Amino acid sequence: TVGTPIVIAIDGPSGSGKSSTSRGVATALGYDYLDTGAMYRAMTWALLQRGIDVTDAAKVAEEATSISIVSGVDPQEPTITVDGTDVSGPIRTDEVTAAVSPVSAVARVRELLVQAQRQAIGFSTSAGRGIVVEGRDIGTVVAPDAPLKVYLVADPAARAARRAAELGGADATATQESLARRDQIDSTRAASPLTQADDAVVVDGTHLTLDEVIEHIVGLARDAS
Ligand code: DC
Repeated sequence: TVGTPIVIAIDGPSGSGKSSTSRGVATALGYDYLDTGAMYRAMTWALLQRGIDVTDAAKVAEEATSISIVSGVDPQEPTITVDGTDVSGPIRTDEVTAAVSPVSAVARVRELLVQAQRQAIGFSTSAGRGIVVEGRDIGTVVAPDAPLKVYLVADPAARAARRAAELGGADATATQESLARRDQIDSTRAASPLTQADDAVVVDGTHLTLDEVIEHIVGLARDAS
């Protein structure tokens, strides 16, 4: 029942359950996994570390070229390093989350990271491995030829409840407002806004468990490979 390994693009807004879903799908299929959001977060962490004003797009573009980001591809143990330092923990702080939208809106940053993402995808596929790639622009920009593109959605209240629980019981209303703000910026920026690819399959996880969403996408992958 294992077909040809393929590239699976999983896009969608913050809090739609993309990460748990993508890791689960990769694990079920024995695929590699690439979290592109973690790369934008790592870039943001590095800029903050260097004391860069992240709202200064020209400065961000200039600094970004000298920051080296390397992602692991194991879905069970996602790792990400900046210039050799593991930043898997620090990239999840509120400080980074608050600064990541302006950084990911800078065209030069996207150019550099998209290039690194395509390289990682090529590395997996040329070794005969499939890969699940999660982000905002995977089906539209990074891997437009992916045989399976999923656009994962969930209603805003469900997304906020999930994110608040992840944050260890944060206020769901405040979380919903901050998710909405980030989505607004991510989907209206000029460079590769969050949009659904024409040929993406929309999966609504609102009334499904994580396992049901994973199973559904694994089924789509078997049909596509
Ligand atoms: O998925 P996440 O919350 O870790 O992503 C962090 C930010 O990175 C998010 O606000 C949008 C941005 N991002 C992006 O612009 N393009 C991607 N492919 C992935 C994430």
